[in-house]
Amino acid sequence: MDIVDKFITTHSLTKAECIALFQLFDDENVMKKIREEAVRLQKKYYGTKVYARGLIEFTNYCKNNCYYCGIRRDNHHIKRYRLSEDDILSCCENGARLGFHTFVLQGGEDPWYTKDRMSHLIRRIKKEYPDCAITLSVGEKSQEEYLAWKEAGADRYLLRHETADESHYRSLHPESMSLSNRKKCLYELKEIGYQVGAGFMVGSPGQTWESLAKDLVFLQKLKPQMVGIGPFIPHHDTVFADKKAGSVDLTLKLLSVIRILLPKVLLPATTALGTLDPLGREKGFCAGANVVMPNLSPVENRKQYELYDNKICTGDEAAQCKNCLSRRVKNAGYELVWERGDYPEEKITKGAK
Ligand code: SAM
Ligand code: FES
Repeated sequence: MDIVDKFITTHSLTKAECIALFQLFDDENVMKKIREEAVRLQKKYYGTKVYARGLIEFTNYCKNNCYYCGIRRDNHHIKRYRLSEDDILSCCENGARLGFHTFVLQGGEDPWYTKDRMSHLIRRIKKEYPDCAITLSVGEKSQEEYLAWKEAGADRYLLRHETADESHYRSLHPESMSLSNRKKCLYELKEIGYQVGAGFMVGSPGQTWESLAKDLVFLQKLKPQMVGIGPFIPHHDTVFADKKAGSVDLTLKLLSVIRILLPKVLLPATTALGTLDPLGREKGFCAGANVVMPNLSPVENRKQYELYDNKICTGDEAAQCKNCLSRRVKNAGYELVWERGDYPEEKITKGAK
């Protein structure tokens, strides 16, 4: 059996096999086979559904200094903002009116949102919208905080591991951060019972086939319920201002590979993919992605949450984003749905092969 057939049959790859597979990425027949298998699995578990998650970017204060990120601490050229609890509740109200059943609270690592403030916020959202899932994406915190927020009602947590390669991790982050702590957080979150999302940027400076292989091996070990990958895009006020952006094509290929590695995974077609290619998200669905995250943040703050240059959708109202995305999903042959869309433990779409 060749490596592609073995991968499709076993849903697993060693590091050496990942590298061998990457060498076949320019072979159109191989890629067609991988893409078709990815779409077969996507449809087997999810049909043509693409889940909408409402993204609320509630603070752009960040105590960290990741070299790639536009809201890093040392970027003194952006205006910092922090939404109040009431502001966040109005975003949820707007989202609930539009039909959303998941709110993703994302922000920089902002110490103002203490354990108790976040717990209070989560409880208020859950009380108002008991049918909705809450996803947190606020970085590396203590186990005590993760536990408190789970008890307050949070359901899911997004924490991209960024790269599973030690030396690559070092070249993307200052000394104060470490891959071991990032991984520790991910395992703790899983242990506590969150549905967990890991992931990485494609084409971040210094990324090699070897580091990508380590990413795939790590994902197989962690078995997250969600994986967020998107191309790296430079931001003009960061250390990596002059670096090249990642490739849309490679991101699409990796989306298909991840769909096969973790067949039931919830896999977003990211805003970064849509930023580099006007049809990037549509291409993402056709490669195996099944989640989109329209923005529910107040329009006046969107530009200030600029992680990278030219980020799309920063001028649109949430309702416009909803309509635009519904249309895009439909054009790609899929259907945008508004249900909670939890990770399916044992669900298989009827009639699928
Ligand atoms: N502070 C939280 C954390 O660290 O997980 C959430 C916010 S962080 C800004 C969200 C994600 O944005 C990061 O995990 C990173 O992968 C992505 N990101 C940051 N800068 C980027 C860039 N220049 N291009 C593409 N993605 C970027
Ligand atoms: Fe904020 Fe990296 S700069 S988490």
